[in-house]
Amino acid sequence: PVSLKGRSFLTLKHFTPEEINYLLDLSADLKAKKRAGIKGNLLEGKNVVLLFEKTSTRTRCAFEVGVLDEGGHVTFLGSGDSQMGKKESIEDTAKVLGRFYDGIEFRGFKQETVEILAANAGVPVWNGLTDLYHPTQILADFLTIKEHVAKPLNKVKFVYAGDARNNMGNSLMIGAAKMGMEFWGLAPKELWPSEELVAEMKEVAKETGASINFSENVDDVKNADVIYTDVWVSMGEEAMFEERIKQLKPYQVNMDMIKKTENPDVLFLHCLPAFHDLNTTVGKDIYEKFGLESMEVTDEVFRSRHSKVFDEAENRMHTIKAVMVATIGNL
Ligand code: CP
Ligand code: NVA
Repeated sequence: PVSLKGRSFLTLKHFTPEEINYLLDLSADLKAKKRAGIKGNLLEGKNVVLLFEKTSTRTRCAFEVGVLDEGGHVTFLGSGDSQMGKKESIEDTAKVLGRFYDGIEFRGFKQETVEILAANAGVPVWNGLTDLYHPTQILADFLTIKEHVAKPLNKVKFVYAGDARNNMGNSLMIGAAKMGMEFWGLAPKELWPSEELVAEMKEVAKETGASINFSENVDDVKNADVIYTDVWVSMGEEAMFEERIKQLKPYQVNMDMIKKTENPDVLFLHCLPAFHDLNTTVGKDIYEKFGLESMEVTDEVFRSRHSKVFDEAENRMHTIKAVMVATIGNL
């Protein structure tokens, strides 16, 4: 039987397909329990701290509600709330927090930071997004695919259109390689992931039956079961807006792309937040400058029956809860 007790969760690279399936099954169980109104105690007596250098809606709230649902306690420290990285090193901070807390979540810029925390805390550390990876998001995405696509993950053609070099592009490719999926990254070549990471995942794919493909041709969306996209400009990259719009405009997820799949039931996913609606999202001046009404996904697709983005967002909570329960819970 799989046990993840005491493990950190820094990237899916560190997890076997069996362990990922275990987390997905645990997530589904916890979701059913919550739906049935059953209060849990799997994190009773546990204290969790959340360190956020960057802003968040879903990830922060998923960790908070996840802990509270299972009877634990949570402390939130936003950027500027602690000494970490300013008066005190990451290493010393990790050593201190590890004496107080049973688990530590980190969201921020560098993957190195979450790794230093994990190496020094003596308790599990969970990656809530860095510039390189966003592994908890992938669990929510795959749970949503399992719920809405009538095929096992290893039969799914998964297309990621957009910035394939960012945390989502990297992490989805890793997850797909692990789970034996047919992965396609649609993006201009300069936005494909590093050759090193692609080569590493192609090695994983040999063992799992996955295939890892990149293309600049949007016609390769044909027969997709899932189309996924993410913002063209990630947190901290705001200066890149103009360049990215020019590079990624042909890869926008719109009804033409949906039609090109020739799959009437193709699923649309997005980690959110999404730039889909000129009237309700920020950056209006930038859209207008380029004559766009939306960026990575049109409002039409976002609100269509293909889109399960809010089921996906809900699943952040169930899957993050599963990661905490699996690594520090009273199982
Ligand atoms: N998808 C995601 O991580 O959302 P937040 O930035 O709101 O946490
Ligand atoms: N690539 C995005 C993901 C947000 C969940 C970012 O890093 O801002």
